[in-house]
Amino acid sequence: MSKTIQKNIHYKKYYVDSKLQYFKPHSTKIEKSFADEISFSLNQPLKFISPKFFYDKKGSELFEQICNLSEYYPTRTEINILKKLKDELPLYLVDSFRLVELGSGSSIKTRLILDILNRIQEKIEYFPIDISEILTESSALLQQDYDDLHITGIIDTYQGGLEFLSNYDDQKNLIVFLGSSFGNFTSNDGKEFLKKIHSTMKDDDIFLIGLDLVKNKTILENAYDDSQGITAKFNLNILSRINDELDADFNLNYFSHHAIYNEHDQRIEMYLKSLIDQSVSIKKANISLMLKKNELIHTEHSHKYTLSQIRELMHQTGFNIKNTWLDENNYFALTLVSKN
Ligand code: AVJ
Repeated sequence: MSKTIQKNIHYKKYYVDSKLQYFKPHSTKIEKSFADEISFSLNQPLKFISPKFFYDKKGSELFEQICNLSEYYPTRTEINILKKLKDELPLYLVDSFRLVELGSGSSIKTRLILDILNRIQEKIEYFPIDISEILTESSALLQQDYDDLHITGIIDTYQGGLEFLSNYDDQKNLIVFLGSSFGNFTSNDGKEFLKKIHSTMKDDDIFLIGLDLVKNKTILENAYDDSQGITAKFNLNILSRINDELDADFNLNYFSHHAIYNEHDQRIEMYLKSLIDQSVSIKKANISLMLKKNELIHTEHSHKYTLSQIRELMHQTGFNIKNTWLDENNYFALTLVSKN
């Protein structure tokens, strides 16, 4: 008994085969272009570049490398927690659930959850929501390993994708947001985001979120400034991207990667530091930038939480905590919440 999808008239359906389809908005909602965003953010008194721009092809490859670094504990730790969930998560998956993932994340994590669903139900369905079309590639790969996996990709913002889902049918959803990607939000934006998730969830949907925990400062700073310099390359790559896509002339030799843990605000702050007084032209954004020696361009916040803050955050945004799972070092938390 499923509702029809006629409420989702703003999406075009791309039917690949009986197990694979995508939905994409007819027109992308009034989103600012890369050039417009960069022109705005680099014209502020405190210059910044949004971390969402890290992930071009090269940046995504570098992020994969970061996930495998010995210093970067989050990915490995979250995977270990997920492995321990194979007996406990099914307790919350009575009847059948579909997996909805915000971001078409690391396929290892997706697979661990699909494996859990695969053991307890006949049909498995996966709905990745991602603004980038890379989900089309990762979906094809997943289907090589799961015989009866039905994938519906939603190529849209998380917000848009969740609204699409709430109008789609009556199937119960296990929504997951892993990797502590939530940590990029400021405290207020994060709360707004959670409230929106809460309001678009159906009564029986559940939500699993991975959050990085407050810990020793050295461990944190090493995770974001590794000895091989991969995180530095990842950070600097955003300037190469601006050079390539917006016809700019950033000289990467005149910038350095800077990552510090701000204990008061409980976040890693990443910057690109100008090593000299310099000017940079970004033709397609119509700007000519002046940078002072030691001036910082902010590129990322990565917030860390305590368990009591996670509890408070969930209660403030209307959720009911069902369970929280941790690793043995208390480095990372997976929290499962329901709407009511
Ligand atoms: C993808 C946002 C979770 O904050 O740890 C890793 C990104 N930046 N190293 C994080 C990142 C530098 C990562 N998130």
